[in-house]
Amino acid sequence: MEEEEMRKPWVDQDACIGCGLCVNNVPEVFRLADHDKAEVYDAGGAYEDTIQQEAIDICPVSCIQWLD
Ligand code: F3S
Repeated sequence: MEEEEMRKPWVDQDACIGCGLCVNNVPEVFRLADHDKAEVYDAGGAYEDTIQQEAIDICPVSCIQWLD
C-alpha cells in the first residue's frame, strides 16, 4: 500500500546543469551520472518531504519533478 502511494522524483537531464546540489543534499536518492547530469537511482531512499525541500525546491533550474 505505502509503495503504491509513494511518488517518484525524476530529473529532466536535458535541463540539469550538473550543479550537484541534489546529489549533495540527498545522496540516498540522487547521483551524478557519467555525463554529469543528476539521476534518480533510489526513489525510495528518502522521505518525500526531504526530496521536496532538499532537492526539488533548491534546484537552480527546477528540473526535478514528481512523476504521477
Ligand atoms: Fe541538476 Fe538540479 Fe541536481 S541542476 S544536479 S538536478 S540540483
